[in-house]
Amino acid sequence: MAEIVLKNIVKRFGSLTAINNLNLTIKEKEFLVLLGPSGCGKTTTLRCISGLEIPDEGRIIIGGEDVTIKKASERDIAFVFQLYALYPHMTVYDNIAFPLINMKHSKKNIKEEIDNVVEILKIKHILNRKPRELSGGDMQRVALGRAIVRRPKAFLLDEPIGTLDAKFREKMRSELKKLHIDIGATTAYVTHDQLEAMEMGDRIAIMNLGVLQQVGAPNEIYTNPNNLFVANFIGSPGMNFVDCKSIKDSNGNIILRITEINENIIITDKIKEAIVDKNLIDKDLILGVRPEDIILSLHSKEKYIKTKVLILESVGSYNIIDINVGKDKTIKARTAETISPSIGENVYIDFDMERVSIFNKETGDSILSKK
Ligand SMILES: Nc1ncnc2c1ncn2[C@@H]1O[C@H](COP(=O)(O)OP(=O)(O)OP(=O)(O)O)[C@@H](O)[C@H]1O
Ligand SMILES: [Mg+2]
Repeated sequence: MAEIVLKNIVKRFGSLTAINNLNLTIKEKEFLVLLGPSGCGKTTTLRCISGLEIPDEGRIIIGGEDVTIKKASERDIAFVFQLYALYPHMTVYDNIAFPLINMKHSKKNIKEEIDNVVEILKIKHILNRKPRELSGGDMQRVALGRAIVRRPKAFLLDEPIGTLDAKFREKMRSELKKLHIDIGATTAYVTHDQLEAMEMGDRIAIMNLGVLQQVGAPNEIYTNPNNLFVANFIGSPGMNFVDCKSIKDSNGNIILRITEINENIIITDKIKEAIVDKNLIDKDLILGVRPEDIILSLHSKEKYIKTKVLILESVGSYNIIDINVGKDKTIKARTAETISPSIGENVYIDFDMERVSIFNKETGDSILSKK
């Protein structure tokens, strides 16, 4: 098993830069999820790690060894694609045995290895079937079996359950996580589904347009996104963004003024320090608030902002309420199901300032992130 280090990787296709100076370490035994919109460079990253593509710049180090120009076959890495490429004319057993036959393992050894994989993946009952007789989930298990049986240094999984229906995906997600715990291999897992990433990843690396935006534990990325892209991409319903300006009030205190409604809000010392350190007094900022970090009161309270209920969506254990702030701004608040104001009613909100994000409007970067 091995750590994978990507150093300053650049990969171009003609004039398009698919990966732009990527620095990323996938730690030994870690389950790292690569997340990002279509075309951001996830598959290209995996293909570079596997050796199916050679980067134009940078180095790839696997288990301490520089493999940048090594062939795929010399890297000892298993790659499972979105579309399971099983051999249609072979049985499940032969499909899984194939890489071992290629590696000239003995018949006895092959049987032992397959018995082990069959046990892990619970596929004994389908060993004699051909791929056309399998469900999508079974095919995916076989594809995984073929990858596991080689005992590679690392696994690269490219949306391996993307084609399955929702219920199967749920099941395969937990199976894959369990599998990872059982065999403990370094794994890079690609998805463009943020919920899947949050649920599965030890850490998540978020990419956009070939550029790594942030890497961190799911909770860290959720609570402290580096920039507007990450803040927007993670969370459902998404983070609310409110334009504001940092100003000094008549007492010399730094506060935020919400542009839409010209109301001031008091900020934490941490936010004040960031504003001062980064020279951002009198600058346009964006306040980012998750729906669950909006405190909502049905009655007027000091310092709370008066708003109006537009839509109330009951999701069972909680409500999502669309509220109008000022004339045109709509934000979403998440409340307990017991708080159910009527449409058109006035409600009063405050923000949990310990949990908000603040972005520099000009650059889109968080003023609070450590970067
Ligand atoms: N062989 C290639 N030739 C030319 N352009 C390519 C090639 N492979 C990828 N690209 C381009 O590089 C960019 C990154 O592609 P990549 O397949 O890595 O994206 P992705 O994040 O995996 O997207 P998706 O979620 O749709 O699978 C895209 O703009 C894509 O069109
Ligand atoms: Mg892809």
